[in-house]
Amino acid sequence: MTDWEPKIIALLCNWCSYGAADLAGVSRLKQPSNIRIVRVPCSGRVNPKFILASLRKGADGVWVSGCHPGDCHYIEGNYYARRKFVLLKKFLEYVGIEPERLHFSWISSAEATKFAKVAEEVVEAVKKVGPARYLVKREVEVE
Ligand code: FES
Repeated sequence: MTDWEPKIIALLCNWCSYGAADLAGVSRLKQPSNIRIVRVPCSGRVNPKFILASLRKGADGVWVSGCHPGDCHYIEGNYYARRKFVLLKKFLEYVGIEPERLHFSWISSAEATKFAKVAEEVVEAVKKVGPARYLVKREVEVE
């Protein structure tokens, strides 16, 4: 398991965290290569099914990041996102998914350094719990 590297899906709001990821890239900040970014119009657009589908299709962790409180372009999408996320995290914990696999953050488009730092933290947290075992849809070999 020493070669194992986690796959992490990052669902980033177009107006803030995606901009921070872009700025981090343009600024050549060191970032983990484990993050696969999906740009969403607002963190409030993240349906819990996106998170479940990511885990089912082989992601070891999911990171949702949106605008800071009060900065959402759709007024309160990030508040809805946070509430949905807290409930989903509790539910997943209840069914046996380690809470370290799910992360939520507020990162503005100017916070490239914060983006790179949180990305490292997310990867480290997921590495500690190892490869995802539950919800992962596996191929069944028929003999
Ligand atoms: Fe960024 Fe809503 S527009 S979280």
